[in-house]
Formats: sequence, C-alpha cells, structure tokens
Amino acid sequence: MLTYEQLKERLGQIKDPSLKKSFKEVGGLKKLVIGPTGVVELEINLKDKTANEQKMKIEIIRLVKIEAGFPGIKIEFFESEYIPEGEKAIKYLAVASGKGGVGKSTVTANLAAALIRQGLKIGIVDADIYGASIPNVLQLPIKPLSATKDELMIPLQKDGIEVISTEIFMPAEKPLMWRGPMLGKMLVHFFNGTKWQDDIDLILIDLPPGTGDVALDVNKYVPKSKIMVVTTPHVNAANVAVKAGIGAQNLGHEVIGVVENMSYYLNTCNDTREYLFGEGGAANVAKKLGVPMMIQIPLGQPLDKSFIFKGNEPIGKVYDELALQVMKDLEL
Ligand SMILES: Nc1ncnc2c1ncn2[C@@H]1O[C@H](COP(=O)(O)OP(=O)(O)O)[C@@H](O)[C@H]1O
Ligand SMILES: [Mg+2]
Repeated sequence: MLTYEQLKERLGQIKDPSLKKSFKEVGGLKKLVIGPTGVVELEINLKDKTANEQKMKIEIIRLVKIEAGFPGIKIEFFESEYIPEGEKAIKYLAVASGKGGVGKSTVTANLAAALIRQGLKIGIVDADIYGASIPNVLQLPIKPLSATKDELMIPLQKDGIEVISTEIFMPAEKPLMWRGPMLGKMLVHFFNGTKWQDDIDLILIDLPPGTGDVALDVNKYVPKSKIMVVTTPHVNAANVAVKAGIGAQNLGHEVIGVVENMSYYLNTCNDTREYLFGEGGAANVAKKLGVPMMIQIPLGQPLDKSFIFKGNEPIGKVYDELALQVMKDLEL
C-alpha cells in the first residue's frame, strides 16, 4: 500500500480532462483522508463535472484500489472553480419569471441591448427550450452554426448580442418532442460547448417559465449564476414569481432583484399613468424575497416596430437604468 504522501502525489498527477492540467496544478484534490481501516475518502474538484465524473471515477478507483492496494474508497465530486490563467470567469445572470407571457424574453433581450450600449460584451443562452423566443425578439437571422477546431459552437450574433438557442437547431414550425434528460443534454452543450467571444462580460439566461427541470439544470451547470425575477403587477404573475424566486434562493442562487414589466400605460393625452394590471405586484415579490425592486417598465412598443428599444427612446432609457443596476450588482 502507498503512504499518504505517495497516494497524494499519484492522485495529483491525474489530469482534469477539461482543463488538460493535473489535479495538482488546478487544485483538483479537495480532500484526501485515509481512514483507520484503509478506506480512502476523496473529494475531487472537476471542471464540467457532469460530463467528466463517470470516467474520472473509474480512473481514480483503479488507481486507489488496484494500483495502490487500498481496500475501499469513497469519492465525491464538486464542480471546479479553477479559472485558467488569462481567462476571466464568465458571469451569468438568469432571468426567471414563474409565469409565461410576462415579458421575460423581451426584458432579457432589451437588457442585453442596453448593456451593449454601456460597452459590454453580452451573450444570451435561450434556455426556454420549448418556447424559445430570443431569436424572434432580436429578429436574428437563423443560419447553420459553425464550430471551432475543438468543436465548440460559435453563437449567432445580432447587433453584437451573441445567441445560442434551440431555435437555431430546429426546423421552423416543428414542435420539440423532447423530455427531461434530453433537455439536460442540450443545456450541457449550451453551457460547456459554446465558444463565446473573447472577454465576454456577461451571459444572460432566458429561463423557461416555472420553477422546474431547467432551473435545476441551470443550477447544476452554472451554480454561480445570479437570478433576476421578472413579473407584471398582476397578482397571479406576482404569486408565481415569488415561488420562482424562492426556488432559486433555495438552490443557493443570489436573487439580485425584481423587475416589474408592463407596470403601467403612460397616457400621453393627460400625462397620467394608467395601472392596467393593478399596482404593487413586483414590490410585493421583492419584499417576500428580501431583495430590491429594480425597475418598472411601462407598456409600449419600440418606434421602429422591432422589439428592441433604442437608447434615445424613453423605454430604452428605462432599460439603460436597469443595465446600470445590473452592472453594479454583478461588478461589471
Ligand atoms: N412592456 C411591454 N409593453 C408591451 N408589450 C410587451 C411588454 N413586454 C412584453 N410585451 C409583449 O408581451 C408578449 C410576451 O412577451 P415575452 O417577452 O415573449 O414574454 P415571456 O418571455 O415572459 O413569455 C410579447 O408579445 C411582447 O412583445
Ligand atoms: Mg419567453
């Protein structure tokens, strides 16, 4: 049997398949304890844990039990937080709503445009797999994706916003007939298989409505993602938004705040705000989640009949203000 030091040395030489560096170099060996009966207890940090866990488990068990002769082993894997030198950690902000139709995709895309106006580099992962609408909101021309030499997907781009969406892979007007595990695999590709532009500052994730499967998947692949909740003032939307927010908080995500969309209609005839869907929805959600209410976005359409407001339109300015808050919260 090897000594503790010898075993540590051997384990340290194992390479993290995604980082292509040894555990010693990237802090892959989180914990190593040899129990009184010779059972080895290991905690391993692994990049792309979901993709690599199985094969690493086999390699490590072979080393510890067969080569080194220890009678037993317990291994637990954790997602590695190692960032290769010269690369900065990609930041993520997932946009959640609970209820559909509250303008989550519209807010996500307009926030992306506003962040670009602030000079940032932004991508969007359209994780609303069944209801993918980011390409539509951005009026993104769909064409086949190209890939890098390492087979990473190169996202499509519209007005500087990089986008990855199921819409890109699906024939138009064909429903997607996938269920849970397939969706999980799709998301792994989105998060681990995309070559975003260099020095990208932030990736926004347009989550599907609800608090189910995909939110859990996002938690698995980007556990550090922060969350922004979108709701309308309507009590039904607000109630589900609270659930979505609490769900995210329970999974350990920081909710940065609540955006109220379709807050009011500005009646320009008499310059009054008409609260068509009631008042106070988002403030209530914010209070229940213990987070700030970030902004109120009125009803309205962009002047050019697209879905993206320009910086010189009143609602474009509202999005600029939201962008500044997000930059502050995420230290961008
Ligand atoms: N502030 C707003 N004023 C007017 N229409 C809006 C506003 N926000 C969203 N919409 C419209 O509401 C519909 C639903 O928005 P969408 O972003 O697709 O919602 P979700 O992603 O939450 O399902 C779309 O037709 C969108 O253009
Ligand atoms: Mg949507």
